[in-house]
Amino acid sequence: MPFLQLVIDAGPGDPAPVEEACFSAGALSVTLTDAADDPVLEPAPGATPLWPAVRVSALFPGGTDGAAVTASLAESLGLPSHRILAERVEDRAWEREWLKDFRPMRFGRRLWIAPGGQEVAEPGAVVLELDPGLAFGTGTHATTAMCLEWLDNLELGGRRVLDFGCGSGVLALAALRLGAQRAVAVDIDPQALAATQENAARNGLGDAIHVLHADALPEGCWDVVLANILAGPLVRLAPRIAAATCEGGRLLLAGLLDEQAPDVAAAYRPWFHMQAFAARDGWTALTGRKSTE
Ligand SMILES: C[S@@+](CC[C@H](N)C(=O)[O-])C[C@H]1O[C@@H](n2cnc3c(N)ncnc32)[C@H](O)[C@@H]1O
Repeated sequence: MPFLQLVIDAGPGDPAPVEEACFSAGALSVTLTDAADDPVLEPAPGATPLWPAVRVSALFPGGTDGAAVTASLAESLGLPSHRILAERVEDRAWEREWLKDFRPMRFGRRLWIAPGGQEVAEPGAVVLELDPGLAFGTGTHATTAMCLEWLDNLELGGRRVLDFGCGSGVLALAALRLGAQRAVAVDIDPQALAATQENAARNGLGDAIHVLHADALPEGCWDVVLANILAGPLVRLAPRIAAATCEGGRLLLAGLLDEQAPDVAAAYRPWFHMQAFAARDGWTALTGRKSTE
């Protein structure tokens, strides 16, 4: 079913009246997005921060009279009608639209991440088939890419791996493909846990991985611990992640901005010898080796 979409630049004010006016005019859904390029990183728990300039996109049924609804909204909001852009859009599985640009990608020497069904004709390629579903983690983001390159370069034979904040499961599953013996993948997002299970099954790795909520992580230690989260949670989780890393074990931390790297490294130094591994697009990845007592 096609839709009519109205896009309204709500500027720096409260977008709630614009949102309400759209629903009153018959909108089926309203989406708020960043009208400029002002990322909101690490909001406080329970907070729903907005950007300094908000764009409101409202979807109406396809049969809606675009000119009439634009004129009515312009009048009720006191806006000139040229500030409201009307367009027809076709129905699609919007949350999966970006997947059409997802192609097999190589990380390091041998590791490839490929969307399901796409062939990698490269001798010696280690291929992980992946569909992130609604979870984070395809390798297209710099933080995931740096982690995958680190894994490709690590001797993983027989190792037990913990992926803390697994998203799509990409890191844990790549580690298994690269020779790790077993993996545990935890997250706080049910969609991430579902995506990781599905990706494990898709790759025939279901028996080698244990996927569970982060709160249910059992006591124990792992030889390799991967955590691509954000700086705030990484700092708060330092004692827990340290306890989950075996003595002499390897740690990889990502999801921190370059300027956050010193604070995150400092939080882990009581247990680990820390160093920077790589930096890309403003993000830094840190590695550590846990000290032996
Ligand atoms: C940036 S994504 C990384 C996904 C994947 N590991 C990758 O490298 O692409 C971060 C993931 O960490 C999860 N996460 C955030 N805070 C967490 C916490 N305190 N404990 C466990 N997982 C957490 C999020 O739900 C999200 O799936």
